[in-house]
Amino acid sequence: MVYKWTEKYGDPNWFINSKLGMFIHFGLYSLAARHEWVMTLEEIEAKNYQKYFENFNPDLFNPKALAQTAKKSGIKYMVFTTKHHDGFIMWDSKYTDYKVTNTPYKKDILKEVIEAFREEGIKIGLYYSLIDWNHKDFTIDGYHPDRSRINYEQEARKDIKKYQQYIKNQVEELLTNYGTIDYLWFDFSYKSKVWGDLKGKGKDDWDSENLEKLILNLQPNIIINDRLDLKRGVGTHEQYQRNKSDSEEIVIWEGCQTLNGSWGYHRDNDNFKTPEMIVKMLIDTVSNNGNLLLNIGPNGRGEIDNKSLEILEKVGAWMRLHSLSLYGAKGSELNPPQDCRYTMKENKLYVHVFSWPYRTLTLKDIPKRIKYAQFLNDYSELKVIEAKTLNEDRKAEVNLDNELKVLHIKDKLDLKTVIIEIPVKKPDVLVPVIEILFEEE
Ligand code: GLC
Repeated sequence: MVYKWTEKYGDPNWFINSKLGMFIHFGLYSLAARHEWVMTLEEIEAKNYQKYFENFNPDLFNPKALAQTAKKSGIKYMVFTTKHHDGFIMWDSKYTDYKVTNTPYKKDILKEVIEAFREEGIKIGLYYSLIDWNHKDFTIDGYHPDRSRINYEQEARKDIKKYQQYIKNQVEELLTNYGTIDYLWFDFSYKSKVWGDLKGKGKDDWDSENLEKLILNLQPNIIINDRLDLKRGVGTHEQYQRNKSDSEEIVIWEGCQTLNGSWGYHRDNDNFKTPEMIVKMLIDTVSNNGNLLLNIGPNGRGEIDNKSLEILEKVGAWMRLHSLSLYGAKGSELNPPQDCRYTMKENKLYVHVFSWPYRTLTLKDIPKRIKYAQFLNDYSELKVIEAKTLNEDRKAEVNLDNELKVLHIKDKLDLKTVIIEIPVKKPDVLVPVIEILFEEE
């Protein structure tokens, strides 16, 4: 489902131009190290989950270093889990004791994170789970860890209004005590789910309309994601790559992706995507006018595993040379050659080449004359042959391997076709990008 943007929210331009964000899933589940849903996947009772609370002490967590890594990777905004479904609170909230400052770690981890990322000029997004398996007024549904142990008398005494007020109180804290928050990220609504006599939850359970009003009163420039069940906000496509056929509507959206399928640290999960895959996902997303929110899950000591770090490093190395084709760019209406993705910016077209063709790249329906073409990785010139300049036999004289050769163009070329001569060897980068500069009209 893709929703329209709403004028109620703040100016989303910073978001649209950011392209790459960092999602950080960090909480008690990081100690269990087997998925952030562990509490419900294993139907763990609150009293047996308590050990993670008692042992939460990420002594090597270094938000400054993490923010620097993020910046080096080309990341422009972050989204940090202030509370996940288990209900554990990552800041010094006065509305609960189930919070980070009561663990052996003692410090307000959210404050540390916000300060460090802000210092690097990275925009601040806060994830807040609407689901709460710890709150005493949160009714049991099919996702709840206690679903097989329901005490119906106790359920009847629950007052969802109290839970709604708790959400509002905490959101107010988040939007009052930590300076400007750029993005609020709620998770999630599931109204249509039914498990026997247990039902899912949506906007009436969260009191979303009033919650949204409160948020916009406190921080009118904020943007909000689409999971409050209000049919508006930033589209958050989860572990799924949107493509052009999905919807014709122009919306603001981000694809959120894990590195290995788990959001929280998962010690034994080695299903990592390759850096090349991540870079391709990023390009693909931007070519569809979205952002990529890339997840990391710090471990129990607060460190990022080597594999994730290596991915970030490689994404960063690619971004250092190629982010010009992404930041501030848009997708293009033109159809790119096979296995390529286009982005556009000012009078430039960027061709991202996913698989390396042999010697030439044919671009169709190019609407303007081309002034210059180059690789982004080293600014080396690329020879462009425009169909307009070919003789009637469809031959082009090109300089292949330093020898003047005649290239017979087999394709039926119309006048808007352009051929770019490329080297045999793919540039030594994950995805080469060609920058094409058009003549001014
Ligand atoms: C999900 C999951 C969750 C994760 C998230 C990220 O729906 O419940 O664990 O935090 O959304 O998109």
